[in-house]
This record gives sequence, structure tokens and C-alpha cells, in this order.
Amino acid sequence: MPDLTGWSVLVTAGGTREPIDPVRYLGNRSSGKMGNAIALEAHTRGAFVTLVTTMAAPEPIENVVEVETAAEMADAVWSRVLEQDVIVMAAAVADFRPATTHGTKLSRRTAPTIIELEPTPDILAGVIERRSDCLVVGFAAETGSLDRAVEKARSKGVDLLVANDVLADGSGFGTVTNQVTIITPDGSAQPWPLLSKAEVASRLWDMIPGLRG
Ligand code: CTP
Repeated sequence: MPDLTGWSVLVTAGGTREPIDPVRYLGNRSSGKMGNAIALEAHTRGAFVTLVTTMAAPEPIENVVEVETAAEMADAVWSRVLEQDVIVMAAAVADFRPATTHGTKLSRRTAPTIIELEPTPDILAGVIERRSDCLVVGFAAETGSLDRAVEKARSKGVDLLVANDVLADGSGFGTVTNQVTIITPDGSAQPWPLLSKAEVASRLWDMIPGLRG
């Protein structure tokens, strides 16, 4: 088992929440379990771990940065890129947010029936722009085919992409297991069996140090 003593690792976890008004948000079904498992395994192997998350963090993680929105997650991650040896972007980040956040609760009588959206920052793209020699692992949650994930592994500038079909049995949001496919930028795709998220995390950390080449 590769030792990560002396490594600084940043992991993102959970789903971002984009406010509509003080009581409502646009969100997604991410539980944070995959990101937590990755953070925990890196910690167990001796890394100094920073977990940037929208969810509750596992107890032993040294440095937890709680965020809610994609913009907050972007600030938290981008300001720390240069200190990291590895960044693992397991969070399910909203691609769009309400263009206007209402300061008071919308009421049934006056609420708009259409919410205008605007794009959120692409956190991964910002990491790739800022990094020097840090390894970057991206995730791709797909529904159905993983063909688009192969293209993402090529185009996003990551060193590794962990793709999964969130509609498959035992995979995706909220489950304790995951069936992932590991895709490298050259397009090779290696499907792993259905494993616990802890086992996926362990196999990832067996593999990541070797990406340094
Ligand atoms: N991601 C990000 N910032 C966003 C959206 C996603 O950094 N605003 C990251 C995720 O954490 C993940 C990776 O980008 O590691 C891929 O996310 P995904 O949603 O699959 O990619 P998109 O390019 O948004 O593709 P699409 O919406 O077309 O599926």
C-alpha cells in the first residue's frame, strides 16, 4: 500500500446548493460518501488532507472547509491549488445557479414560475489553469452510456477521470457501493467491479501516486 506521508491532498465532496431564496435551493442527490471515503483513505495513508465539502466530514480529517455553493467551493479550492500534490474533485458541482437570489422567502402568491439560471464557475478548469505539478483527478457522473466521459478525460486536462453511471444498480448518489470506470486522457477505460466506496478509494490511492511517472 503506497505511503502518502508528506503529501498534501485536497478532496471536494458533496453536492453544491445554489440558493433561490433564504429557505430554498437548487441542489442534487450527492451524499458526499465517495469524497469522504477518498479523504479518509488518504488520511489513513499519512497524507495531510483538506476536505472542501457541503456535507458532514469524517472525524479524523485535519482540515475541513465547509462550503455551500459552487462559487464558495471555487474560492476554497482555487486559493489552495499551489499547496497540493493531488486534488480529487469528487463533488457534484451545480453547472447552473439562479441568476437572482431573493432576499426574502418567495410566497405562493408572488413567486415567479420561471427561475432564470446562469452558469457557475467551472472549478476543475480553474484548477487546471492554476496548477503547476499537482495531479488532478476528476469525476464524471453520467446517466446511461459512459461515452461522454471518455471525451471529458481527453478534454478537461485531468490526469485521471473516475466515471460512473449513477443510474446503475448499487452505483451513484447515496449508495455505499460504486461501480466506476477509470479513464485516462489517452482514452483507455478500465471498468472496476461493484465495490464499496471505501474499496474504490483504496484502489484509487494505490493508483494515483504512480501517475507522477
Ligand atoms: N465540475 C467543476 N465545476 C463545475 C461542474 C463540474 O469543477 N461547475 C467538476 C466535477 O467536480 C467533476 C468534473 O467537473 O470532477 C466533471 O463534472 P461533470 O458535471 O461530469 O462535467 P461537465 O463538464 O459539467 O459535463 P456535463 O454537464 O456536460 O455532463
